[in-house]
Amino acid sequence: MTKLVQIIISSVRTSRVGDQVAAYVKNVMQASSPYRFEIVDLKDYQLPLLSDEPNIPAYKNYTQKHTIAWSEKISQADSYVFVTPEYNGSIPASLKNAIDYLYQEWAGKPTVVVSYANKGGSFAAEHLKFITSRMGMKPVNTTPAILTTPDRRDEQNRILNPEVAFESHRESIEKATQELVNSFSQ
Ligand SMILES: Cc1cc2nc3c(=O)[nH]c(=O)nc-3n(C[C@H](O)[C@H](O)[C@H](O)COP(=O)(O)O)c2cc1C
Repeated sequence: MTKLVQIIISSVRTSRVGDQVAAYVKNVMQASSPYRFEIVDLKDYQLPLLSDEPNIPAYKNYTQKHTIAWSEKISQADSYVFVTPEYNGSIPASLKNAIDYLYQEWAGKPTVVVSYANKGGSFAAEHLKFITSRMGMKPVNTTPAILTTPDRRDEQNRILNPEVAFESHRESIEKATQELVNSFSQ
């Protein structure tokens, strides 16, 4: 069975651009690897701040419908691509919360961190690599850092023509994809 890679949209803001970044990343990764890719949007899971589960996530003894749905979705994949913005020097609370909901589901799997921000989001990427490694995931070295500066936006604050705007980042996404392929063959 072909491996499944889930690309996780980490921003849940109403006026986000994470969906555009994730779509671009999916196109490039799909064209440069043999895997199946699926977008997973945190917005669809409506996870409240981790407060209504009585047990720690590592026991995988869930009681809430939203946790069970999230666990079932994440369990399906062999690998994850976290597409994360940088908020004040780190990852958004929405992503940390979604990661913290689960434990065993993530462990041992190769991952790619793709950041985006006005300055590319390298602080967020470093924090996320640390968190995911600490939890037993295996992040590849290359962390594409995509610029979503105001000059790349239209009046609605959306990215104007992502294929053109993000073209200079294609190579680093392809490099990360190759590292992901390599990590499966190790
Ligand atoms: C709360 C907040 C904090 C931000 N902090 C940073 C930052 O530390 N560094 C940076 O380069 N851009 C920062 N930005 C700009 C965002 O990275 C940029 O707006 C990006 O598009 C946000 O992703 P989203 O639109 O998908 O939510 C910040 C934006 C927000 C909303």
